[in-house]
Amino acid sequence: MGDQISTQAPSLGNLIGELLDHGIPEAILFAVLLLAGMSILYYTLRTGVPPMPSHPSARRAVFRLIPESFAPVTIYELGCGWGGMAFELAARYPEARVVGIELSPLPWLVCHIRKLFQRRPNLEIRRADFLKCDLADADLVFCYLMVAPMRGLERKLAGDMQPGSLVITSTFAMPEWMAETVETVPEATSAQIYRYRVPG
Ligand SMILES: C[S@@+](CC[C@H](N)C(=O)[O-])C[C@H]1O[C@@H](n2cnc3c(N)ncnc32)[C@H](O)[C@@H]1O
Repeated sequence: MGDQISTQAPSLGNLIGELLDHGIPEAILFAVLLLAGMSILYYTLRTGVPPMPSHPSARRAVFRLIPESFAPVTIYELGCGWGGMAFELAARYPEARVVGIELSPLPWLVCHIRKLFQRRPNLEIRRADFLKCDLADADLVFCYLMVAPMRGLERKLAGDMQPGSLVITSTFAMPEWMAETVETVPEATSAQIYRYRVPG
């Protein structure tokens, strides 16, 4: 007698109550996570580079490779991902303008949210394809990408940058340029960090 099946349609109020109790928050969370995942996947396939942050030891090696006497005016981080390295560069060189360029919207958005909490007035985060940006004023460029984009990037930097300017790449070497210095980072699966001067 206790298990009576109701033949009445649920009222709208009851339905909303039910969804709020169980359905809507989970559905929204699921939709947001799905969209975020699809966005990351789409831009990873488009650029050929996942938004994988560089290892802290690799970042320290990058700073070791920048000569102490070097006083950059404009630094570009090409593919700045979630912003870890861009924020460190901006903190280390407060007199320089640091420009982080990122095409993937989610990492780019996270960089902007970080900026609200970690104020770095000399840091600019730009949503763009770095291959289409003018990098002529760069006196230091850093990037951590993949093998595939390095050849195009090498041509781009050779065309845009002043001869003798500094380029540091993590893990993936320039195909034609001869590195001035290479440092191996055992803590970061023996990744190599390359320092180049733009050839004249
Ligand atoms: C491996 S992550 C490196 C993140 C950060 N530089 C670091 O060292 O922690 C490379 C980033 O480059 C971005 N990227 C790849 N090609 C790009 C392009 N042509 N323009 C802008 N961003 C690009 C990817 O979306 C990705 O977030």
